[in-house]
Amino acid sequence: MRKKIVAGNWKCNTTLQEGIELAKAVSKNVTEKGAKDVKVILAPPFIHLTKVVENVNTDRISVSSQNCGTEPKGAYTGEVSAAMVKSTGATCVILGHSERRGYYGENSEILNKKLAQVLENGLTPIFCCGETLDIRESGKQNDFVKKQLDETVFQLSKEDFSKLILAYEPIWAIGTGKTASPAQAEDMLSFMRSLIAEKYGKEIAENTSILYGGSCNAKNAKELFSNPNIDGGLIGGAALKPDDFLAIINAY
Ligand code: 13P
Repeated sequence: MRKKIVAGNWKCNTTLQEGIELAKAVSKNVTEKGAKDVKVILAPPFIHLTKVVENVNTDRISVSSQNCGTEPKGAYTGEVSAAMVKSTGATCVILGHSERRGYYGENSEILNKKLAQVLENGLTPIFCCGETLDIRESGKQNDFVKKQLDETVFQLSKEDFSKLILAYEPIWAIGTGKTASPAQAEDMLSFMRSLIAEKYGKEIAENTSILYGGSCNAKNAKELFSNPNIDGGLIGGAALKPDDFLAIINAY
């Protein structure tokens, strides 16, 4: 049985002190009132990782970075390697977020190098895909997402692929307040699962957690999560509010 997951991507928000307070508040909520069968992941900025790991109940919460470098180490000023992420106690790495692809030019070639680093270090990739509004309006979203997957995660061996969490985040729904309808999200996730089944077989497809992300909040989470192929959410804005984040966790 695949896991239900609610992951909070804090993006470039919170100072270290604010991040520690947020992590403590989320951890208290999750420990005291969070649905026990939901895996909770927090993805703060890099410099918060060690402190967030220290300040959450790691029996209930896993910690993730939002990115990592393509190289294991060396003269790459400003980069943070997957091995460094691992050394903080974090266990996951978000890769391929549309903001990384769009603002920092991360293409499939770069993402494949990052995927290799993350897997080599025994971390779990949370791999994102999703189309722009233009592509959605032209009806080509399935072809687009298939290409994103074909060029990256579908290059992995069956064994490595089975370690992934996938997230579908339509760019037009991120931070816009314009959520994909439950039917749009379910259609895409069911399509992605069918692609996984074609490539790696039904068992792996059934065991892969696929999350929806994009303006998911305390109000719409229940309806989204009630769909059979939606295994949880990758949450941006609402992950910065401990009570809203708890409500999303408990929307199952
Ligand atoms: P919002 O929930 O703020 O739309 O962000 C979604 C997202 O990009 C999570 O990675």
